[in-house]
Amino acid sequence: MSVSRRTLLLSSAAGAAVVWPSGAFAAPHRGPLRTDPFTLGVASGDPAPDGFVLWTRLAVTPLAEDGLGGMPARDVTVHWELAADERFRKVIRKGTATARASRAHSVHVELDGLSAGREYFYRFRAEGYTSPAGRTRTAPARSASGGPLAMAFVSCSQYEHGYFTAYRRLAEDEPDLILHLGDYQYEYAPDTYTVPGGNPRDHEGPETVTLANYRQRHAQYKADPDLQAAHAVAPWAVVFDDHEVDNNWAGEVPEQPDPDFRTRRAAAFQAYYENMPLRRTSIPRGIDMQLYRRLHWGRLATFHMLDTRQFRDDQGCGDGYRDCPAASDPARSITGPEQEKWLLDGFRRSTARWDVLGQQVFFGQRDNNAGPQKVLSMDSWDGYQGSRDRITRGWVDAGVRNPVVLTGDVHAHWADDLKLDYDDPTSRTVGTELVCSSITSGGDGADVASGNHSWSAWNPHLRFYNNQRGYVRTRITGDALTADFVVLPYVTTPGAAAHTRATFVIEDRVPGLTRVADNPTPSATLRSAAEQGAETVRQETDRP
Ligand SMILES: [Fe+2]
Repeated sequence: MSVSRRTLLLSSAAGAAVVWPSGAFAAPHRGPLRTDPFTLGVASGDPAPDGFVLWTRLAVTPLAEDGLGGMPARDVTVHWELAADERFRKVIRKGTATARASRAHSVHVELDGLSAGREYFYRFRAEGYTSPAGRTRTAPARSASGGPLAMAFVSCSQYEHGYFTAYRRLAEDEPDLILHLGDYQYEYAPDTYTVPGGNPRDHEGPETVTLANYRQRHAQYKADPDLQAAHAVAPWAVVFDDHEVDNNWAGEVPEQPDPDFRTRRAAAFQAYYENMPLRRTSIPRGIDMQLYRRLHWGRLATFHMLDTRQFRDDQGCGDGYRDCPAASDPARSITGPEQEKWLLDGFRRSTARWDVLGQQVFFGQRDNNAGPQKVLSMDSWDGYQGSRDRITRGWVDAGVRNPVVLTGDVHAHWADDLKLDYDDPTSRTVGTELVCSSITSGGDGADVASGNHSWSAWNPHLRFYNNQRGYVRTRITGDALTADFVVLPYVTTPGAAAHTRATFVIEDRVPGLTRVADNPTPSATLRSAAEQGAETVRQETDRP
């Protein structure tokens, strides 16, 4: 396909900024691409009232061991188009971007100057090939009331543990915005993290350590058609958790002693940036990456997207469930002081109806011991109680109207009321936590007829639990946030239908959960309290 003069003129006038600055590169060699380079799909992200990021990455052989997708060692010019309609009859903007070999042929086009609160469609072209089209949208104007918003959130997609059917069902919902709260991919070598009955799919390549490894792994995930469908349907806002780098890493401390962990972390960050629809503000600088940020959805909602990995102190007493004095040491932090200040300032300045924390690990207390001794997960906010106290107190003191914490990580759906003092049964509810199950991690799982966990007997603020795979679909208006906990009966074979297991409502100015629907699957089994507790600890300490 030839490039017309008009296209070039329009592209130079379009004002699109391409993220990567030019640098020193090997002289490109010529030669056309012989097969379709759009094997990794398209994506968009971080919507603002006037724009968003468009993403793609070129690869003719996604699983290539060197992580370079079988692409020639030269830069490739990519043309992009933005339209008001899905048939691209009304193209609003077009331009070009350079897919640089040094950046694994990823493309980030950051657009501004668009109309607020509008749906758009986009696609790319390169050397005669055209990408699939994606749908995205701008956020409403900052002054707009901004509702209703259909937002879904997801976490924990271990490719080996099942098919990404939950991503497909999520795409079929056609939400306005998707949040990914971490464990987008897993670092493991094939079959080192397995589900009962064996993994239905295998990772390609070794445990990810080098930049080539991480690029190859990202390409394997991005080649999945169900994941591509979810990216193509709506803008995403992503944050990483541990597995995008290394299980349970904390700051500069890896899971196992490793003198080269800083190099590994830098490689993981670079590949993460290359493969995600992130703004240029998130371009990594060595071992540093600015991931925490805010998104505004008119006056309806502010999303505070957190990074609870990069700046945290090391886990106290190791990584599992422990009775650990360090957990309540106020000097320890899961956010680091700068991010904590940024978050507390955000609470004080907020005028949003809903202040939503998009973050990684369980926020409310979960004591797994029925007796007087408290046994808590050291990797979650329970292991950093000073941070939790300061942030909870921060939103209460700031008069935040509706604080809602969104969480991934634990491979099960949970919902809980948040307290200033979890040990005082008269402590009032001051917020709400919604926890999404995994897309696949942990395998098929099982429903629980009671719809709650055995630990709720001595943690009465825990209100809902389900151990199947799925996602959480929300509808947010000025009056209420409605959350559907969507589950799939199986993921180790493809094609499961989705089922709304339970629905909760959070009403404006009423912190805490109201259950409005409860739909156990007909085959739901009520397990013993001991079985349920043991399974949860195993699930969360065996490489979640
Ligand atoms: Fe996970």
